[in-house]
Amino acid sequence: SRCPLNLNKIEFESEKQKRAVEDLVQEFTVTPKLLIDIKNNFKEAMNKGLAKDGQTIAMIPSYVVGRLDGTEVGSYLALDVGGTNLRVVSVHLEGSGHITTHQTKYKIDESLKVGEAKALFDFIAVCVDSFLDEHSIRVRGDTEFELGFTFSFPVLQTSINRGTLISWTKGFNAAGMVGKDPVAFLQDAFNRRHLPVRVAALVNDTVGTLLAHAYNHPDTVMGVILGTGCNGAYVEEIPKIGKWTGERNAETMIINMEFGAFDKERSVLPLTMFDNRLDRLSVNAGKQLFEKMIAGMYLGEIARGVLVNLIDRRLLFGGQISPELNQMWTFETAYMSTIEADSTPTLSSTRDILESTLSFTHTSLVDRQIVKCVVELIGKRAARLSASALSAVLEHTGSWKQKSSIGIDGSLFEHYPSFDSDIMDGLVEVFGDEVRKNVSIGLAQDGSGVGAALCALLATKYSAGK
Ligand code: GLC
Repeated sequence: SRCPLNLNKIEFESEKQKRAVEDLVQEFTVTPKLLIDIKNNFKEAMNKGLAKDGQTIAMIPSYVVGRLDGTEVGSYLALDVGGTNLRVVSVHLEGSGHITTHQTKYKIDESLKVGEAKALFDFIAVCVDSFLDEHSIRVRGDTEFELGFTFSFPVLQTSINRGTLISWTKGFNAAGMVGKDPVAFLQDAFNRRHLPVRVAALVNDTVGTLLAHAYNHPDTVMGVILGTGCNGAYVEEIPKIGKWTGERNAETMIINMEFGAFDKERSVLPLTMFDNRLDRLSVNAGKQLFEKMIAGMYLGEIARGVLVNLIDRRLLFGGQISPELNQMWTFETAYMSTIEADSTPTLSSTRDILESTLSFTHTSLVDRQIVKCVVELIGKRAARLSASALSAVLEHTGSWKQKSSIGIDGSLFEHYPSFDSDIMDGLVEVFGDEVRKNVSIGLAQDGSGVGAALCALLATKYSAGK
């Protein structure tokens, strides 16, 4: 792996410093054996979730059964809640696989994320309202817009546009919502403002990503998000969903796995003291442990924890901290992407981040090399853990043996250097070289927008056909 190689090039200041870094390499490396152990454990968790409700990995039936072939036409609204920004998107399906979109992003204030749910949804309705004005797509008369609502949290669906929130994730914790239907909250907020919008579908971002990718890659078997949070959806055969009591007139259904919750039992994940500390200080302690080792919301904070620990032991930056680094959440995962990509001999972009952005007055080359090593260890661990989840699904479905596509969306996957090749290397460790030819991993374009629109279309088509 990259880091131990670089270790030989670092002229450590002391034996103690060197040993500290070597220990980190030990702690953060996911060996091929561990990757396979995790994969096996993950497969068992999938089966448990398919059999019964309330399991560690929820394995939620999405109620999406139909498929699209790119010929569909129509205009839909999509609303994306659950990433870093709130987005409203208008999606025009023009047939022959062609799609155009227009979108506006809105920042959700931290206080809304942890305030009263009603206030959060009123804010969302205001955003949709101003979007309709801004894009002059409001019409007179009684025309209603159909909206696909991407709500990227664990929601136990009871129909294509109904469900109950199981729990909040990713720093959201608005009061009075767990156990309630997010669609009802949204539709009520729209109605309070007299917006001509009907919530036609409730979609997880992973399900949307799968649908959007399948629109152009019909052999898509999985949709994955590696962004603020992490999760995946895949196509399952209905007879294998033991807990499914609904209609059986289709053969397959998309399952939202909610795999960020994997291993809350702590039986297989290589949790370090830095992971435990981050978990303890989070708004959802004890939950989403897998997500907290992989997703963009958390990686920077894990790195910060490691760096502060080295500083406290006086093994980095001469034992000095900067006021910025001394605060939680200041070491952004985006910095890690830049540091990973830094191949200058003096690590000059790493220096920029440390000295300009984080206001360290002086950093030595050894300091910067250690920072880069820490970042690489955490990034690579995240990619390899993702690979164990993906390989579990590929093995469960058998799709690694045939031509298949996986669509992945999210800032982490899009911007983090070599995340894709690290994932593929992990898959090769599990399945051998054959998987490289069969399975293609690609960036899915805007699953949360386009996917939600496609889902709204399926929902209207489906209910019209009944
Ligand atoms: C969190 C949510 C999940 C979502 C994922 C990616 O894990 O619980 O629903 O798919 O983040 O956004």
